Amino acid sequence: MTQPTIQPNILPTLTDLSEHYTPQARAEAEAELFDLLRIASVSADPAHVGDMRRAAEFLQVKLSALGFTARVDDTPGHPLVYAEHLKAPGRPTVLIYGHYDVQPEAPIDKWQTPPFEPTVRDGRVYARGATDDKGQAYAHIRAIELLLSQDALPLNVKFLLEGEEEEGSPNLEGYIRQHQAALGADAVIISDGSRFAPDVPTVTYGLRGLSYVEVQVTGANRDLHSGSYGGAAPNPINALATIISRLKDDQGRVTIPGFYDGVEELTDTERQMWAGLPHDDAQFAASIGASALPGEAGYSTLERLWARPTLDVNGIWGGYQGEGSKTVIASTAGAKISMRLVPGQDPVRITKLIQEYIPTIAPAGVQVEVKDHHGGQPVLIDLGNPYVQAAGRALEHVHGVAPMFTRGGGSIPIVSAFRALLHAPVVLLDFGLNEDAPHSPNESFALSDYHNGVLTGARLLQEIAADSAVLAEQQA
Ligand code: BES
Ligand code: MN
Ligand code: MN
Repeated sequence: MTQPTIQPNILPTLTDLSEHYTPQARAEAEAELFDLLRIASVSADPAHVGDMRRAAEFLQVKLSALGFTARVDDTPGHPLVYAEHLKAPGRPTVLIYGHYDVQPEAPIDKWQTPPFEPTVRDGRVYARGATDDKGQAYAHIRAIELLLSQDALPLNVKFLLEGEEEEGSPNLEGYIRQHQAALGADAVIISDGSRFAPDVPTVTYGLRGLSYVEVQVTGANRDLHSGSYGGAAPNPINALATIISRLKDDQGRVTIPGFYDGVEELTDTERQMWAGLPHDDAQFAASIGASALPGEAGYSTLERLWARPTLDVNGIWGGYQGEGSKTVIASTAGAKISMRLVPGQDPVRITKLIQEYIPTIAPAGVQVEVKDHHGGQPVLIDLGNPYVQAAGRALEHVHGVAPMFTRGGGSIPIVSAFRALLHAPVVLLDFGLNEDAPHSPNESFALSDYHNGVLTGARLLQEIAADSAVLAEQQA
């Protein structure tokens, strides 16, 4: 079994937009994206609330100029942008989701050029948010502009661009519930992940879920001289290290009781499909400068990344970290822990399990508290879904090679709400690459990927409209 073949579209040839995507349009598309990248819309940092609103307003102004009815809606957190262009009665409606918030830029000294001054080097634009998700989301806006420039927007389009994705989308589900009718769509399109490899156009059909907790460990009632007290007093940093070391066994399996309950095993079909993907462990390890890939025993790297749950410490602190040495036993220590989840696991349940488990593995003499941060459901998308097929055809048209269908290891918490509340199929059409370094210093986005994203986004809408025309004809 290889990758699934894409069903051909039976309509006559669709207008080829590439010749209409002129050098001037490309230059404009770049300049506009760079303006958006200059706005430091870091959702995590209260110092940037003003930038958050500026970014939302930037998008609203742009979408209004394209003929959308666009507004900035307040939420209990950061504002979101909602816009609609409903001028094709009887035609399908798509909802395009993306996020304009970005991860914090730290560590700033690792950036070769400033994170909010987009800089082009070797055909890539370097800036925080370049690929995640401003560049990928803006590609869809320029896709609409390209279609409109040819008087050829063949369906109805809604945009939902939020400012809290990097925070776990705490207010978006409530917003969707409140605006359920207005947000209705035949399909939801999202470009907010990474495709498989530079020369491989990809449709993503699965994402991992997430549970994220913070562990706080407290020992003595104050910092202690490590000579006067060491050996007798509890040490919260040592205790935290013990706790962490007990969370996984030497086979790389998470030890939390019940953690793997319900985890859906990969089907043989999928396993064979992944075996055919151009992946090489040595190359993968080299691409991140690692000397080994110490994951869960018994699973291939792609399975570990896409189909197996895992647990990683994302941050850890405690004690003296300044210059030189300080002989002290800290009174507190802490860690942030993320667990990536797969179909069959529920984030609320997993968070509860770790909250119950950690106190049972903590050494004597310390108090532990496990705080719940945020979570997200895992996602698996049916490959037979006609919108996924349409995305495959769009990619094939633009790239001239058949796309591959892969899963992704990251999480987009709101996807499950789109399915549950809007009952709409979701298409994950990724334009970026892991090597764009999202969340890292020197995040970038290849300008060729950006422009291919514009062309693919536009082509997808043509394909969806054509599909619906065929259906209408068959039903007539
Ligand atoms: N764009 C990513 C999600 C993503 C990354 C999907 C790679 C597929 C492959 C998104 O912005 C993100 O970073 N999500 C967070 C979730 C969160 C903060 C709740 C993540 O995956 O860590
Ligand atoms: Mn993202
Ligand atoms: Mn992200």
